Amino acid sequence: MNILKKCYCRTFQTAFRLALPFLPYRKPVLMPKISHLPAVLKQKGSSIDCAKAAGACIARPRLPLKKMKGILKIRRKLPLLIAIPTTAGTGSEATLSAVITDSSTRHKYPINDFSLIPDYAVLDPRLTISLPPLLTAATGMDALTHAVEAYIGSSTARDTRKAALKAVRLIFSSLEDAYQDGKNIPARKRMLTASYYAGCAFTKSYVGYVHAVAHSLGGAYNIPHGLANAILLPYVLDAYGPSVYKKLKELAVAAGLAGLDTPPQEAAKCFIQSIRQMKKRFGIQDTLPDILENHIPLLAKYADLEANPLYPVPVLMNAKELTRFYYPLLKQRQ
Ligand SMILES: [Fe+2]
Repeated sequence: MNILKKCYCRTFQTAFRLALPFLPYRKPVLMPKISHLPAVLKQKGSSIDCAKAAGACIARPRLPLKKMKGILKIRRKLPLLIAIPTTAGTGSEATLSAVITDSSTRHKYPINDFSLIPDYAVLDPRLTISLPPLLTAATGMDALTHAVEAYIGSSTARDTRKAALKAVRLIFSSLEDAYQDGKNIPARKRMLTASYYAGCAFTKSYVGYVHAVAHSLGGAYNIPHGLANAILLPYVLDAYGPSVYKKLKELAVAAGLAGLDTPPQEAAKCFIQSIRQMKKRFGIQDTLPDILENHIPLLAKYADLEANPLYPVPVLMNAKELTRFYYPLLKQRQ
């Protein structure tokens, strides 16, 4: 090496050595066990849907996230997506959906595209054992809502009905155990499986008005999604009336609440009542104290925009008709 190049190399190296104390080197925080991961994810507010949205932005850098609202707006492959659920509820590891909250308008909206289906899903029950009881219950009831809304809708297929029935069976046999003892690994595993099956059901057969109303409440008041679903599910099922008796009977049979000879109306009422009782045992209230009455028309409009025409619900309702699900939450509070 000639003298000039030697000087250049040494000067370069000296500059970096002098700058060393000021360079932003950092060490990764070491995690001795994978089970420490959920607490970190919770602290950092990260999530599967956030990863989906980030991937969508990489796939479509010129398309703002809010323009991806609705269906099939991405249409490009995302970077590798591995979903590792740390709750048993959203089913996002199986679905083509991501739910986004617009922080400026406090409006929650879903984006749906086949490219949002994760490449891999890791179902490890050890990652859910630190979930507190109320969150276990609320997320589990979110999974139940996915299975029920997918099953009673009019766009079911044989595989989605089968998946929804499996999910309902597992939730009714395991959610209480996971709620009572968070370290019950078999119960946690069954709930993760249930959440996955419920996700498989609703990704093809959609959800319904419970979700549309819950998203409007979650966006406006930051009400946890599972909690809102748990409160709304019995109200909405009641409102569908006789149109869902037959299907709710089938779910009641899967849950072990009714027999094949139980009349449909009786079995359906029993299924709805058992959801109310389950919710009560989990300490989930019937009301949402944060709701402001004058917000209801706008919230119902958001629910209408989300649900109609996409969700194949058993009984169609417009924005005005959807307000019926908000008022009871206020009235019972007073
Ligand atoms: Fe949900």
